[in-house]
Amino acid sequence: MLDARERLIVALDLPSVADAESMVARLGDAVWFYKIGYQLGFAGGLSFASRLIADGKQVFLDFKLHDIGNTVQKGVESVARLGATFLTVHAYPQTMKAAVEGKRGSTLRVLAVTVLTSYDDTDLAAAGYDMSVGELAAARAAQARDIGVDGLVCSAEEVTKLRDIAGPGMALVTPGIRPAGSAVGDQKRIMTPARAIEAGADYLVVGRPIVDAHDPKAAAEAIVAEIAQAAGK
Ligand code: C5P
Repeated sequence: MLDARERLIVALDLPSVADAESMVARLGDAVWFYKIGYQLGFAGGLSFASRLIADGKQVFLDFKLHDIGNTVQKGVESVARLGATFLTVHAYPQTMKAAVEGKRGSTLRVLAVTVLTSYDDTDLAAAGYDMSVGELAAARAAQARDIGVDGLVCSAEEVTKLRDIAGPGMALVTPGIRPAGSAVGDQKRIMTPARAIEAGADYLVVGRPIVDAHDPKAAAEAIVAEIAQAAGK
């Protein structure tokens, strides 16, 4: 059973390492797990990730890899050496197989992104898919499970359905989390922390509701408390 604090992953969607350092200092012991994506990653965030890991924090590199198999495999080998805990790849079979090969022998866990939470059926149709979000996410989840991927990134709405496909062993990681009353932003499928945990999510990814809060530490602590309460039910 994971501790409530281990289940909150704060998205450090910030423009510079200096901003990230001051956010991590403000959050202190309230947060153990950080997600670094494109914005910070391409602004010195990888060496910052190494420092976070050396300080005992866990790091999720959200780079959503997708390339030819050899390139994905070698990239994942490098991420594994860095000591990251989670890495995302897009849920294309060839990409997922290469990533599973690349992390072999390490503690890195590969997460597949089924369908981005900012996408709805209209966005999928515009991208050339003749499937609903639910159908595509289910098909990709089954492929990820069969290939040996460690977990899935999915909206909280999809957790119940995907748990049936993924089984108990895969980690379900859900962005699009919004505490009651917070701004939705560009997310299209959102849920409160408590409802996402009750639905069966293992980890919650929260960015703007914490990072943009007047008091980020208080916002993180409130979410951890909400996770603990929902998990105890
Ligand atoms: O600020 P907010 O809480 O919306 O941040 C959510 C984070 O989760 C962002 O870093 C976003 O890139 C990421 N994410 C997402 N949907 C996915 C995968 C990742 O929103 N399917």
